[in-house]
Amino acid sequence: MMLRVLGSAAGGGFPQWNCNCTGCRRARTGDPAATPRTQSSLAVSSDGERWLVVNASPDLRQQILQTPSLHPRTGLRDSPIAAVFLTNADVDHIGGLLNLREGQPFALYAARRVLDVLEGSAVFNVLNRETVPRREAPLGARVALQDAEGVPLGLAVETFTVPGKVALFLEDPEAGPSFGTAEGDTVGLRLIDERSGRSVFYVPNAAAMSRGLSERLQGAELVFFDGTLYRDDEMLKAGLSGKSGRRMGHISVSGPDGAIASFEGLSVKRKIFVHINNSNPILLTDSPEREAVESAGWEVACDGMEIEL
Ligand code: MLT
Ligand code: MN
Ligand code: ZN
Repeated sequence: MMLRVLGSAAGGGFPQWNCNCTGCRRARTGDPAATPRTQSSLAVSSDGERWLVVNASPDLRQQILQTPSLHPRTGLRDSPIAAVFLTNADVDHIGGLLNLREGQPFALYAARRVLDVLEGSAVFNVLNRETVPRREAPLGARVALQDAEGVPLGLAVETFTVPGKVALFLEDPEAGPSFGTAEGDTVGLRLIDERSGRSVFYVPNAAAMSRGLSERLQGAELVFFDGTLYRDDEMLKAGLSGKSGRRMGHISVSGPDGAIASFEGLSVKRKIFVHINNSNPILLTDSPEREAVESAGWEVACDGMEIEL
């Protein structure tokens, strides 16, 4: 199985267009300790020929341009992207679907709640349902992925719910602390290479480590995990936002309930933070926070990171 991180930053990317925080400023000036990153996406392939893109970020056009294995190969119109899987309906994960118009066939997979969000926005009708079939990935089930024509990709996906939140633009302030969140608004994936049987977990959004989630991840070979914020209050303290990480549906990297602490009892071989917000100091290679995550056995994803299993 081949994996390529197309985008390792959270919504907004690094630097974010309107952000003047220390990290974004350093990234903008070409500081080698502050490498720019595009928004959250992963490409996966069993054969190196046909690819699944997990989450379609608004930076997808740029990500494809930077990735030769995703370029057209034969004929006038072609794409190695055979399928797209969405783990939630936030803008950083669905906006890039609009880049995939132009009549190219691919299969679009998501849980019911996420498909319903697409159904509710006429703009996604630029993806003709005949060329881009929308397929439901049932929660808790394993699905063998196929391209638009039904040809198997050699990949299977297990979809499972994780603690999370409804998409930001669909939050219902009248619905109390859940903001109208329902099961399936945020899912994690186990991506399985059907030939080798090897698998990896991709969880770019998780509000907390639940018992069900930790049981699932126990013993995993490789987990990509939500690394949005280092501290729950970092955006509040920096004056960047009025929201805590918890309020945004993201676990923190540090702290007693954070990702590092939550993984401590789990024998996960390789752990990589993805979906990293521009306020998170782990993006800066010279920060003490970066040193802390690496000492704890974690890696920080960067764009273009490739892994072969
Ligand atoms: C998030 O992960 O919190 C979202 O991407 C926020 C957003 O949609 O801007
Ligand atoms: Mn996001
Ligand atoms: Zn910033």
